[in-house]
Amino acid sequence: MSKQLILALSKGRILQETLPLLADAGITPLEDLGKSRKLLFDTNLPEVKLVVIRATDVPTYVQLGAADLGVAGKDVLLEHGEQGLYEPLDLEIARCKLMTAGIKGELPGHARRRVATKFVDVARRYYAEQGIQAEVIKLYGAMELAPLMNLADEIVDIVDTGNTLRANGMEPRELIATISTRLVVNKAAMTMKHRQIKPLIERLRAAVVDRQ
Ligand code: ADP
Ligand code: PRP
Ligand code: MG
Repeated sequence: MSKQLILALSKGRILQETLPLLADAGITPLEDLGKSRKLLFDTNLPEVKLVVIRATDVPTYVQLGAADLGVAGKDVLLEHGEQGLYEPLDLEIARCKLMTAGIKGELPGHARRRVATKFVDVARRYYAEQGIQAEVIKLYGAMELAPLMNLADEIVDIVDTGNTLRANGMEPRELIATISTRLVVNKAAMTMKHRQIKPLIERLRAAVVDRQ
């Protein structure tokens, strides 16, 4: 008998790009994920179920084995830490950059820098590596507002088109990491359910390659 596989998907912008990839890999939910209030979904494959959760919760589900596999942004993985997780495949969707940014033309001084971000561990590590003293302030969204309100001198946030920064009189500064969405697998599941997980990874890999 084949074992059940749980795949945790990040809701929000990643979900929209994940579903066509899953379809190309032969996995389709039995109902419309966008229209339902349900969180756990059956698929055309009886052994594969999907859970749709907050992007930041995906690594937790997979690390602790509540889900066998997950789809999460590299930014979220960097912040969460990669303990207990394999990252076998770059799905090459939701590409963006993790950057520092600040008010246009206003160079940060030498004083302890106030940095607003939701990526507090990544920010602490980054500024420490640069030898810059930073006071990291945790926010949950709209980071671009923080320097305008003099809550912070810089932010660490996702930049894609740069429109959000420009619209708020800010400029991108240093690149911390290039980001895309990754497939992650629970380490124990990779061993225990290898016969099911391996072909699934390979079908997803083929779906990614087909798009390039
Ligand atoms: P959240 O509510 O956590 O911000 P999103 O759906 O906005 O969730 O983003 C989920 C993931 O998509 C992020 O972790 C990141 O990897 C990626 N992402 C976020 N913003 C952008 C963007 N503007 N362009 C491309 N990818 C993005
Ligand atoms: C993301 C990110 C930036 C913006 C960058 O925000 O936090 O604010 O996109 O994209 P851009 O460079 O193309 O403007 P999002 O729209 O996801 O809002 P939220 O996460 O704060 O809800
Ligand atoms: Mg967002």
